[in-house]
Amino acid sequence: MAPGTELPEKKLLRALAGVETHGVPLWMMRQAGRYLPEYREVRARAGGFLNLCYTPELAEEVTLQPIRRYGFDAAILFSDILVVPDALGQKVAFKEGEGPVLEPITDGAGLATLGSPARVTEHLTPVYEAVERLSRSLPKETTLIGFAGAPWTVATYMVGGKGSPDQAAAKLWAYREPDEFQKLIDILVEATVEHLSAQVLAGAEVIQIFDTWAGSLPELSFERFALRPVKAIRELLQARFPGLPVIAFPRGAGAMSVRYFRETDVTGLSLDTGVSPAWAREHLQSRGCVQGNLDPLLLVAGGEEMKAQALHILETLGEGPFIFNLGHGIVPQTPPEHVGELVKLVQEWRP
Ligand code: CP3
Repeated sequence: MAPGTELPEKKLLRALAGVETHGVPLWMMRQAGRYLPEYREVRARAGGFLNLCYTPELAEEVTLQPIRRYGFDAAILFSDILVVPDALGQKVAFKEGEGPVLEPITDGAGLATLGSPARVTEHLTPVYEAVERLSRSLPKETTLIGFAGAPWTVATYMVGGKGSPDQAAAKLWAYREPDEFQKLIDILVEATVEHLSAQVLAGAEVIQIFDTWAGSLPELSFERFALRPVKAIRELLQARFPGLPVIAFPRGAGAMSVRYFRETDVTGLSLDTGVSPAWAREHLQSRGCVQGNLDPLLLVAGGEEMKAQALHILETLGEGPFIFNLGHGIVPQTPPEHVGELVKLVQEWRP
């Protein structure tokens, strides 16, 4: 924090600044979504997932739903990482029960069909309008998080045309033609910086970058296609917005998280379920705020096991700087009352 800068008041911003929070700040990845009946109701009315993302009043409404129910310390904009390829002109559809479907881009000819990354914000104005509305309607203690996918993870969907267990299509392009694949990553770095900057200008106070598939890359490719692009995005964003907190979620990065945290120099690191809290305290928390990492399936199971494992995380990392979260997103079969029980436990916990 720069000398003379005032300390923030909001709990989540205080954790990211590394100052005393008086209790552990809390939000959950995918806190808005199908596990909530009020989400399913709005989703049915919107007629299509992308319509929901591109209708500012509805995106605002579903962002607010989990805040009303649980009083989380942060609201994350309701949107998706795949609005960026959509804005670049690649056809994206969300099929019920199937997830996202894209027309795959697998070579230089495919790259040539993409629009200008500098202009993605023209297509995404409804998203920024949702952010503006939220910055007015959120409770004053709630932090507004904007987000985007990391270039590597977005590329896995653009190249594969859908989710895949092994990201084989993107990996094979990256291994066979690394310099051509790099062009896709560079387009995504530029588009992502524009998209995130527009969210900040509209009122987002923190940015989270989701690299869901970072952990599938071997070290040299991880360095080139996961670490370096996120470092570039963080630098370009903070050159425009000095002091902007940026959280990265390099899911599955394991021991490479240490280098990743240091070299990307992001403000906070979001940990997946597989990271040992004690290891994170020793190797990661000493350099900045960490966030995580309860297994979303413990939230489905609930009960004493959920509580014991949440307490284990709190007792190991809770002295901070720390933000309580899950190790990945809430799943649709989660009983909403289990979320309420976990929120109560975290809110009442003190070191
Ligand atoms: O509450 C929040 O966290 C904000 C909203 C949010 C969504 N997607 C809404 C969504 C966020 C932050 C995302 C990020 C996202 N999207 C990621 C990275 C994080 C992660 O979960 O790994 C990825 C890989 C995607 C791509 C994506 N979007 C997939 C693979 C799917 C289908 C699988 C699924 O969960 O349905 C989506 C659809 C999606 N994005 C839904 C929601 C609420 C479900 C759509 C529906 O209502 O039918």
